[in-house]
Amino acid sequence: MKPVTLRCPAKLNLFLEIHGKRPDGYHELSTVMVPVGIYDTLTLTPAKKFTLEVDGPPLPGTNTVEKAYKAVAAQRKIPGVRARLVKGVPAGSGMGGGSSDAAAMIEGLDRLFDLGLDRHAIAATIGSDVNFFLERGAALCTGRGEKVAPIAQGPELHAVVLWPGFSLSTAAVYGRVRQFLTPTPRPVIDFLNSYGREGPGGLHQVLFNRLELAAFALHPELDALRRRLGEMLPHGARMTGSGSALYGLCSSRAEAVRLAKRVRSEFAGFVAPAGLLGREVSWKSRKSGSS
Ligand code: C5P
Repeated sequence: MKPVTLRCPAKLNLFLEIHGKRPDGYHELSTVMVPVGIYDTLTLTPAKKFTLEVDGPPLPGTNTVEKAYKAVAAQRKIPGVRARLVKGVPAGSGMGGGSSDAAAMIEGLDRLFDLGLDRHAIAATIGSDVNFFLERGAALCTGRGEKVAPIAQGPELHAVVLWPGFSLSTAAVYGRVRQFLTPTPRPVIDFLNSYGREGPGGLHQVLFNRLELAAFALHPELDALRRRLGEMLPHGARMTGSGSALYGLCSSRAEAVRLAKRVRSEFAGFVAPAGLLGREVSWKSRKSGSS
């Protein structure tokens, strides 16, 4: 059986509003997420038992790749696998690296052993964002984030992404958001009307993330970083997900590459230019030829 290699892209939240806390402890939200061209890479080789080798800093918190393996193994009798994960997405950054890895694990096992899995049902048991990564394109996500409605890709967009070198706990940021909720949540429709039509300048006007206020209350220095990054980029900067990564939109790959270089000279941490990915883009791993 040949090994399978999958690319696990990061994501940016271009819009995130919270509608309230649910009885199960999660928050009801509407968010627009877009995959971006910053990747982890997961290679799976059939083996006697499950092992995971990580090339990069040790994974914080729950290991979503192992969690995904166990969730699949609980449903089907499968052999072990040797999993090798090359980290390119900073962990604890709000860029969904762990969720993307889990989605790739589910897809990889399904393909490797031809299981015919209900991938979405398994994904929802692992984390709120895992379902999004199974769809491979921009989407409006609702519920606790696990209900995914694909949306059409707009004009080509690029971003400069900055992860300032420290992580935020998703649970801690959500835990602080209550005081920032409003009785009339911002409707996502204004964003959706602009997405796909506007260039980066127009789109920046409708970018929104309710979790920013909670994250900045916990870490005021992150807001200062966002302001400074916003001054260096043409249209300002926002935070993705529960942070701590920040991003700003650019019109072209060349502009994003040029500005990322400038940002890197001023900021510590991880800085990268990243294209927003559409469904039409091939996500195939260049090395193995499999996606
Ligand atoms: O679903 P996931 O495991 O990624 O969520 C991590 C934590 O983030 C949850 O335990 C919860 O505290 C918070 N969360 C939330 N509402 C959501 C998604 C996550 O409160 N919609």
